[in-house]
Amino acid sequence: MNLQRKPSLPASANQDGRSSRRASHSARRIIVAALALLALALGYLTLHPEHAPAALADRIADLTGANAHPIKLMRPAQAPLSGLALLGREMFNDPSLSASGKQSCASCHSADHSYGPPDGRSVRLGGPNLISEGLRPPPSLAYLYRQLPFGIGPESAENDTPASLSQLAAQGAATLRAAKTAGASAAAAAAIVPQGGLFWDGREDTLMAQASGPMLNPAEMANKDQAEIVGKLLHARYRDRFGALFGPAIYGNPDMLFAEAMSALSRFQIEDVSFHRFDSKYDRWLEGKARLSPAELRGLKLFNDPAKANCAGCHLSAPGADGLPPLFTDTEYEALGVPRDQHLAANRDPNFHDMGLCGPLRTDLARQTQYCGMFLTPTLRNSARRGVYFHNGVYHTLREVLDFYNLRNVAPGRIYPRDASGKIAIFNDLPAAYRKNVDFADAPFDRKAGAPPPLSDRDIADIIAFIHTLDDGTR
Ligand code: HEC
Ligand code: HEC
Repeated sequence: MNLQRKPSLPASANQDGRSSRRASHSARRIIVAALALLALALGYLTLHPEHAPAALADRIADLTGANAHPIKLMRPAQAPLSGLALLGREMFNDPSLSASGKQSCASCHSADHSYGPPDGRSVRLGGPNLISEGLRPPPSLAYLYRQLPFGIGPESAENDTPASLSQLAAQGAATLRAAKTAGASAAAAAAIVPQGGLFWDGREDTLMAQASGPMLNPAEMANKDQAEIVGKLLHARYRDRFGALFGPAIYGNPDMLFAEAMSALSRFQIEDVSFHRFDSKYDRWLEGKARLSPAELRGLKLFNDPAKANCAGCHLSAPGADGLPPLFTDTEYEALGVPRDQHLAANRDPNFHDMGLCGPLRTDLARQTQYCGMFLTPTLRNSARRGVYFHNGVYHTLREVLDFYNLRNVAPGRIYPRDASGKIAIFNDLPAAYRKNVDFADAPFDRKAGAPPPLSDRDIADIIAFIHTLDDGTR
């Protein structure tokens, strides 16, 4: 539009001059109004990029850190704790249930650390004198509410005769494994793989079956047998609750009392919202209620980029179609070949190897050697709050973990020690025969030695910034 006023003509043109001035006045007003509207619209769209046309929405989101496609997350329903769960909470925090009298579930699964270990020790001490060392760091107990029983998938059709784990494993061995690529549909990756279950090796299926494990484990709460635990429960300060919940007959029925006690521990973990808060900055970003900083947003993109970090290939970052918040694990098992933790007491024996699915703690898959070295993919929610990483606790910072992912293939000399002959001891925590199980298919593990690392220092800092947005209660 031409805003230039024509030079006004003398006398006779007076009338014309006034009307042209009026015209240009109103033109200016229209422009000012249009600019104001545009500014308002832009302001509105920076707050709500989801209402902009798709292409523009993504640009605005990039600039502002807002989510261009917010959704409503389906969180587990909240209700006051049942009587059973309240009993479970007492037990969870009760050190008198251990042989030492000093250790409760909470000693190794601290509520302030998302029910993971309270400090950076690689493994915990337990036993009657608190000097027996465990093999693995305690996982976080949060976000297990959707964990399915252990299986070797895909799920068999309902009317099939259930195949044994070994049959399934044999089938799985014959099927080519689908590479895991961030962003690929779950169906594409539905190969026959071990998945689900509790513990680093999936050897227990339900929180209820699991609960007696630590109570009886000689390196943990170290009770002799069920009778010893029942004896302690009968003297606990909350013993009256058993009668109130189940009737007085329960005091004369140790099997029933024990079963109800284990179920109480499980109810506490399922019902108490502190185990599945879903109130991280990332959750609120998914809902369009928080913005990521430029570093966090770059980190998220690298995390999801199948050609770069590809973390989301296994640590799923996208909500389910039904709005289920992502758990940052596909609950499948992988052999990453993490270095041996030389500080563990068990590892002083060079012939000892913790091989996850194929043993020694798990025994039913010992002959399925194609699974040796495989461990459950843990959630990355609240991972930044942990002081210990991987199944053997070999790393203590996220930077070390990211260096492992980045350099394992391209510069193994920076990850593994050298053996006596000076050779780099690659995959030194697995017997040589099983090193072929280690994942070379999925990025960032698909590069050759000497190739440039997939991630720069800045990329790594950005991914770590993003992982911090997965901490519960972050703003
Ligand atoms: C001495 C430390 C210690 C104590 C005490 C302890 N745990 Fe654990 N917990 C662990 C370790 C270590 C693991 C992982 C073990 C493995 O993978 O073999 C674990 C695993 C678990 C798991 C499986 C988590 C997952 O992600 O698969 C649950 C559930 C659990 N513990 C609950 C409990 C309960 C309930 C109690 C109290 C009755 C308890 N723990 C007491 C150390 C402990
Ligand atoms: C191929 C699947 C896969 C990919 C890709 C992957 N992870 Fe993992 N991640 C795992 C498995 C399996 C473990 C446990 C391995 C073990 O302890 O031996 C793990 C463990 C971790 C842990 C330790 C958590 C804990 O509680 O101990 C962190 C942190 C982590 N991954 C971050 C990442 C990041 C960041 C990326 C991207 C650079 C990534 N992962 C890519 C499968 C994967």
